[in-house]
Amino acid sequence: MAIENEIKESFTATEITLPDSIKLLFDLKDKFNIQDSNAHDIIKSIKIDDVESNKKRVYLYKIIKEHLNSCQRCPLYSIENHTQKVAGEGALNSPIVLIGEGPGFDEDKVGRPFVGRAGQLLTIILNKMEIRRERIYITNVIKCRPPRNRTPLQKEIKACSNNLEMELSFITPKVIIALGSVPLNYFKPGSSITRDRGQWINFGEYWIMPTFHPAYILRKQGKALNKVKWAVWQDFNKAVNKAKEMYPEYKYN
Ligand code: URA
Repeated sequence: MAIENEIKESFTATEITLPDSIKLLFDLKDKFNIQDSNAHDIIKSIKIDDVESNKKRVYLYKIIKEHLNSCQRCPLYSIENHTQKVAGEGALNSPIVLIGEGPGFDEDKVGRPFVGRAGQLLTIILNKMEIRRERIYITNVIKCRPPRNRTPLQKEIKACSNNLEMELSFITPKVIIALGSVPLNYFKPGSSITRDRGQWINFGEYWIMPTFHPAYILRKQGKALNKVKWAVWQDFNKAVNKAKEMYPEYKYN
């Protein structure tokens, strides 16, 4: 009896809140008068390359950004060196999502992910793979630049996970490329990027391919540089080939 009362008292209706992604799904249904009641079918209808689906994607992206811009879950948004939150960008129906660590100096100023030196290298890698950057989705584990570009703290990652989950729950990619240790450890805590890169991780519906962060490539020289470049090239190839196998109709350029 005591336990029953304890549960009743601790679990009041006001504490039961719907996840933001579900709220957004209802919102989308209302806005576009969607009859499907199954979340999977609604999300599938967002992925088609036609005018109606594109309208839904534009709407979703706007709300995801608004949701992010109102985030105050950790103190990073209020820190002096912080200019703005940096949302992910690209195609919301992409079978591939690239996830980095968090915005750096340039990203914080411009408000877009991967626009600095590391981002330019990433764009070159993608172009070499005949992928236009706009045809995939690029984001970060955390959306606010940490002071002096330090590695995000666990509590910041946890607080920001709501934003990343929101993005992933609509894009539902086939393959995620985890760029460096922070996104790798987000999906598989206790991992090491040097040990685990290039090896698939199956995470629910997603296949995750961990590889080195482009900033790591930029720090290498000589033979070490060639080795790292080759490793990243192989990892990207594995990831893109798998995504193409799983979703052959998608156009990357
Ligand atoms: N490094 C990251 O991890 N993300 C960016 O957006 C830029 C640099």
